[in-house]
Amino acid sequence: MDFYSLVIVLLVILITSMMANYVKLLLGKSKLPPGPTPLPIIGTLHLINFNDIVKSLLDLSKKYGDIFTVYEGSKPVVVLCSYKAIKETLIDKAEEFSGRAYRPSFSDFTKGDELGFSNGEKWKELRHFAMLTLGNFGVGKQSFEERVRVEAGYLTETLRKANGSPIDPNYHILRSVSNVICSVVFGSRFEYEDENFQRIVECVQDNFRVMSSRWGVLFDIFPNIMRYIPGPHHAIMENFTVIADFIRLKMEDNMKTLDSNNPRDFIDCFLIKMEKEGKNKATFYNTNTLVMNSLILFFAGTGVSSTTLRFTFLLLMKHPNVAEKVYKEIEDVIGQRPPSFEDRYNMPYTEAFIYEVQRFSNVAPLVPQRELTMDTQVRNYIIKKGTAVSPVLTHVHKDKTQFNDPEKFEPNNFLDENEKLRKKEYFMPFSVGKRICPGKNLAVMELFIFITTLLQNFTFKSPVPPEKISVTPVGVAFVNVPPNFEICLIPRARSEK
Ligand code: HEM
Repeated sequence: MDFYSLVIVLLVILITSMMANYVKLLLGKSKLPPGPTPLPIIGTLHLINFNDIVKSLLDLSKKYGDIFTVYEGSKPVVVLCSYKAIKETLIDKAEEFSGRAYRPSFSDFTKGDELGFSNGEKWKELRHFAMLTLGNFGVGKQSFEERVRVEAGYLTETLRKANGSPIDPNYHILRSVSNVICSVVFGSRFEYEDENFQRIVECVQDNFRVMSSRWGVLFDIFPNIMRYIPGPHHAIMENFTVIADFIRLKMEDNMKTLDSNNPRDFIDCFLIKMEKEGKNKATFYNTNTLVMNSLILFFAGTGVSSTTLRFTFLLLMKHPNVAEKVYKEIEDVIGQRPPSFEDRYNMPYTEAFIYEVQRFSNVAPLVPQRELTMDTQVRNYIIKKGTAVSPVLTHVHKDKTQFNDPEKFEPNNFLDENEKLRKKEYFMPFSVGKRICPGKNLAVMELFIFITTLLQNFTFKSPVPPEKISVTPVGVAFVNVPPNFEICLIPRARSEK
């Protein structure tokens, strides 16, 4: 056979197999919830605006209902686009919806050797261990508060040095928030000037940025093509490598000085567990899962909380009246002593403010895709095990039946007519169901202590008029990334009460 005939034969085989796959996909479509007809190769991606994926999904839900199917290439994804849809699935069928779909930007690096992107027994075991260990270090309890307070104090002192002149607070926030989870994972905080520490937190932030850009999104959808195309998405693996190398060195240090009766941090606890597992060949505890679990806790614990705090700064500048109301409550309830997490019970406006920051900034607009762990009935459809599911939290947080003007920042959304805190089922920044964020208790405490400490010490002023401050996220996929900004933190005069 000559060269041209060979090329023609190969092309015919390729086109036939593509057509066969496409026909299979169309046949499968009728068994899934409704949705737009997919095209060969790209699926329904032509209907998605990569600068605002969430908006495209919300628009599609207007036409196809609150449970519908889109196609990432040939992969069907069932989208859950209302509180009702999320409740019927993630909550009412929690076990069935507890899987996590393969996500190249994480899974290619961690190989599912950690609790965020693993499944089955491995996920259950690693998640249970992580939550138990966080609990043993007092996370979410009073004993942990002191660490958070100390860190908020360091941040205050660092910010005070600017003496009210405009600064970009981004890296200060990032390092300080990161130190809280570092104190659990690595047993101690780091000096803000520590260059290795600076490098790893910057890697976290860079990955959040790239993963939320169209490059990161395309990499997650077409990994087999994007791996060979140059672009910023390659930084994701490089950044993870820097963080993992750092953790590996810490692990080696810990191994040399380990005292099994006196674990200092998450790494020590993991090493002790490894020892206990001994020669058990089926164990999930090995040096690789140690590094990857430490990495995922450090990564999630640094990135999402610091992003929320950056939005808090922006919103405090944009809404000086709200900031003053929160401050007034701090003055009345806490005065000038250090805040305690228990104070929140007497501070409904401050709590409502923090809830509203989380609702409005909606830092995790799309829950990382879940995956069905078994064939499951959803309304009139039997959806197959292994199908990817994408819950859209934006719909819940911007639901007009629950929030008067959802696009407006309004802490009163979480207050009743007696100005008492009103909790809402439609508030789920940490998601719901079996994979609900395991860092929730830590994050809630962290946000309260940081925000009250900073407001106790500073008036938040913007160098530009409040109406010119943009709070529109610049990246909207993995997380909502806030725009860069400058702030003047004017030290408050210390009054004797
Ligand atoms: C304001 C701060 C935070 C927010 C808004 C947040 C939000 C979320 C959301 C929406 C998920 C997805 C859950 C799902 O699949 O349904 C998640 C998962 C996760 N978060 Fe957080 N998170 C925050 C802080 C933290 C912290 C401080 C840690 C570390 C202690 C952490 C560790 C994780 C991990 C490991 C997962 C994966 C859990 C699993 O797959 O089982 N997060 N988070």
